[in-house]
Amino acid sequence: MVDEKSMAGDVYFPAPEVIESAHIKSFEEVHAAATADLAGFWGKIAAENFEWYQPWETVLDDSNAPFYKWFVGAKVNIIHNALDRHMHTAARNKAALIFEGEPGDGRVYTYQQLNHEVCKFASVLRSLGVRKGDRVTIYMGRIPELMIALLACAKIGAMHSVVYGGFSTEALHGRIEDSESKVLITADGAWLRGNIIPLKQIANEALERAGAVQSVVCIKRTGQDVEMVPGRDHWYHDLMALPIADPNAPTEVMDAEDPLFILYTSGTTGKPKAILHTHGGYMVGTATTLKWVFDIKDKDIWWCAADPGWITGHSYIVYSPLVLGATSFMYEGAPTHPYPDRWWSLIAKYGITILYTAPTAIRGLMRFGESWPSRHDLSSLRLLGTVGEPINPEAWKWYHRVIGREQCPIMDTWWQTETGNFMITPLPCVPLKPGSATRGFPGVQVDVVDEDGVPAAANEEGYLVIKTPWPAMLRTIFGDPDRYVQQYWSRFEEQGWYLPGDSAKKDEDGYIWVIGRIDDVIKVSGYRLGTAEIESALVSHEAVAEAAVIGVPDELKGNIIKAYCILRQGFDGSDKLEKELRAHVGHEMGPIAKPATVEFVDNLPKTRSGKIMRRVLKARALGQDEGDLSTLAD
Ligand code: WT7
Repeated sequence: MVDEKSMAGDVYFPAPEVIESAHIKSFEEVHAAATADLAGFWGKIAAENFEWYQPWETVLDDSNAPFYKWFVGAKVNIIHNALDRHMHTAARNKAALIFEGEPGDGRVYTYQQLNHEVCKFASVLRSLGVRKGDRVTIYMGRIPELMIALLACAKIGAMHSVVYGGFSTEALHGRIEDSESKVLITADGAWLRGNIIPLKQIANEALERAGAVQSVVCIKRTGQDVEMVPGRDHWYHDLMALPIADPNAPTEVMDAEDPLFILYTSGTTGKPKAILHTHGGYMVGTATTLKWVFDIKDKDIWWCAADPGWITGHSYIVYSPLVLGATSFMYEGAPTHPYPDRWWSLIAKYGITILYTAPTAIRGLMRFGESWPSRHDLSSLRLLGTVGEPINPEAWKWYHRVIGREQCPIMDTWWQTETGNFMITPLPCVPLKPGSATRGFPGVQVDVVDEDGVPAAANEEGYLVIKTPWPAMLRTIFGDPDRYVQQYWSRFEEQGWYLPGDSAKKDEDGYIWVIGRIDDVIKVSGYRLGTAEIESALVSHEAVAEAAVIGVPDELKGNIIKAYCILRQGFDGSDKLEKELRAHVGHEMGPIAKPATVEFVDNLPKTRSGKIMRRVLKARALGQDEGDLSTLAD
């Protein structure tokens, strides 16, 4: 229990009227109830707020941990709760999605209209041979059809695998292959800063290398000519005009534990991992966290400005707002196009009430100064949010003062692709400290511990751990259950704790301060990239024999990538080659993964067993102490 009067540091207390009107008025009370009876807590929430075709026998089955199961025996489909049930209530005529494209075009979908499109596309997918359990890769920009595609897959029980539209050929190819997708859904292009990202062209290249895809569905968005392969490729609008596109398509009845989707993310070593989420627990966890943390009410317009290609978009653009019957806003393009006030103008134009974005976006917009936001009426905003990396107090305070008029609490939400929903986060009733995600969501037991699992002293750095299971947790790594156990549950196996891979500190009030990744993951502008994938893109270039990449702190992006390359015989390091290698990584992985600098070296620090010691490279790059070098070869 925190004694609010004596809290340490810079503390922002919520206004009494914020607490008064919030769904949850006392964090302590709800957290205590959840802690006392975790299964009872979630069972009650699941029964009262969602519709199930058939109820569960057991809320939480931990008999085969860490392969936890939630709502065992229940029949459900998240689409029944996100769309079908709203057809019988006033929500039918409510805006589900308000969209504005970068060029300025707009669209509104009511729940009825969205359901109509989803049903039609679901039956199109069925007619292309997609069945329950099949995988479908989706590679698109931030447009309504992306949402429709995800929902249509879920409706028929197929697992979607979204590949972020900013990734390129090899990243897309690898993810299509690994998932063994039958169908790829893409678009001709996506608008970004007035330019076209040639999605279909990149997809064609990726498919030249990939075998299993039988059909491609292409949405016309940017309108330029694209190459369509006869027999394989179809236009979305052509398929949707066929009689097979049935607006009354039935929703597949699923087990609560049946897979909903996979989403690739980078881990400690090797290729990206396909994180698997399920229909039942994910639905309960994402909708409950959104409702309590962002206090979603009927008249809100919720804007999660993330990319749907990342977990944030899956959980908080696509699924949970619909399950809650809320109205979401979606904007396609760049925050600075055509001018740095595009976002602020959108808030005023649509009367956005809640904005959720990343520290890197806030820092980027902060650079342009206060005159841009001050030109717009932002008074509709009542809550703000941030996610993706630690937010520096300076950016937090700017966001709070300039965007939030010092009246909007900021929900700094710590979570991961793996966790499915917010894990460490304030609720509107919780006192805030700029830069801290505060404490675990009710029922989530988080701690900071040392090597042996002993709780770290106040303000000492240690491993972040989660000590209890939660409904929206990942169930496995698709196709690699051993790696699931190894990666997340082996470090503190005895205790049975989940290891997120972050380091953190806990202060004297029990507030968590996340520091950053302790593994080979680099966060660039909040995007999670694995060193292994970038290194393998580098060595796929003919000049490179060996490569190592590290993250170096950067004021704007959080981190930037620095690469070290050993060249093959016959190649010499030059500015031209550096440029070429950066472009090569951009082509294979995507622009986000491009190294800021490439340094040509004769050798790399390695352990005696041949593992590159990135920590040593990093210490050298930052001019810090290289630490324990006893395992270094030579
Ligand atoms: C990693 C997970 C969850 C949606 C987006 C990221 C970092 C995330 C915060 C935060 C400090 C944060 C962690 C985490 N992270 N949110 N509020 N404060 N760090 O999902 O791509 O799976 O990345 O992002 O390092 O492990 P993701």
